[in-house]
Amino acid sequence: MEWKAGPMGFFLPWILLCGMTSQASAFSTPIAAEDTPRPAQYYDDYFKTLPSMEGMTVAITGCSRGLGYVAASTVVRKGGRVLLLNRKTNAMEWYDELCQVADAASGPKPIHVECDLLSFDSVNSASQKVSELTADSGGLDVLCCNAGIMLQPDQASKDGYDITASTNMLSHFLLVKNLFGQLLVQASSSETARVVIMSSASGYGEPAFNPTFFEKKGGQLGGQKASYERYHQSKLANLAFCCSLQEKLDNAKISNVIALACTPGVCGTDMFRHATSLFSKDGTPLPLSNVPNVKDGCMAQLKCIFDPTVQPGELWGPGKEGSLVRTDMSPPTVLIDEEAKKALWQVCEDAVGKFEI
Ligand SMILES: NC(=O)c1ccc[n+]([C@@H]2O[C@H](COP(=O)([O-])OP(=O)(O)OC[C@H]3O[C@@H](n4cnc5c(N)ncnc54)[C@H](OP(=O)(O)O)[C@@H]3O)[C@@H](O)[C@H]2O)c1
Repeated sequence: MEWKAGPMGFFLPWILLCGMTSQASAFSTPIAAEDTPRPAQYYDDYFKTLPSMEGMTVAITGCSRGLGYVAASTVVRKGGRVLLLNRKTNAMEWYDELCQVADAASGPKPIHVECDLLSFDSVNSASQKVSELTADSGGLDVLCCNAGIMLQPDQASKDGYDITASTNMLSHFLLVKNLFGQLLVQASSSETARVVIMSSASGYGEPAFNPTFFEKKGGQLGGQKASYERYHQSKLANLAFCCSLQEKLDNAKISNVIALACTPGVCGTDMFRHATSLFSKDGTPLPLSNVPNVKDGCMAQLKCIFDPTVQPGELWGPGKEGSLVRTDMSPPTVLIDEEAKKALWQVCEDAVGKFEI
């Protein structure tokens, strides 16, 4: 395999954003007490514009912290039922906190569904549980594929795939495949069901999609020096997945299930701290106050979950001063073409089985 670019080329947008400065305040996502995040500037006003989620069910991966936690708490505050697809951890404060948010909103209690994206068996069990939980309540309204890891070692998942590819892409493909029936059940009522796929601007531009990263070659994909390329490929794959899924829905004339993608920009989560710690001499991360608050970073994801005006197959991300902008998913900014869509679907099916729509 050919390694076309070093990590610094891709990492430039992060470095530029990290150079920004600002003030500080508190936020409830679990973070180190001494590292105070920048206050949310736009989230509170945006929250007021979002419709109620009463009677709706939203499943979200990776909501124990960061962007997924904000997405989950926002849905809970709007009266929706949230299925929290997370790994089991010893400390479950995030779950207790979300239950308190639900109490305060007089909404349904969130439900924790154990789901480890590094194991296809675990994803299958979680899918079974979600199907049971949604069978009697009109199906699943939104499946939010949020969880992700970045700049990780070149290691194999339980199933033999690269851990970044498995967490960020392959397991989410399996989840959508397994839960597609529940989305269709929901869509048979009057509402539109959504698959919301979290990507990143790190998935934009070159190198183009390379299916090798999604083959059963975990631990043999370029070592530490290719950790950013593995992330880039996984986030590009997320975009190809959105396009490919939407195309298949269109071809099958299914108009009330839609695929959407989003990016958060660089914002103050544990992922930011992890990534910036790798680029400092002593492993100290850059301060959270250097980048937007995670609540502001979550707004494009919230738009995809809540906004009735979004159109099938759209990609939303942050713009200037709290605005949200749509990006076309075609070259030159986003390298999704016919070949990438086809190759992505094929390599995912090779890993987790046929997904016909
Ligand atoms: N933060 C940014 O600036 C930024 C920029 C661009 C894109 N994104 C994207 O946004 C998404 C969320 O990132 P974040 O910044 O919120 O990251 P984060 O704070 O590190 O949170 C990541 C979440 O993913 C979960 N997760 C990781 N591995 C998992 C696994 N094997 N099974 C189940 N859950 C797993 C984590 O759960 P555990 O607690 O169990 O580890 C956690 O809840 C990712 O897809 C990321 O690529 C973030």
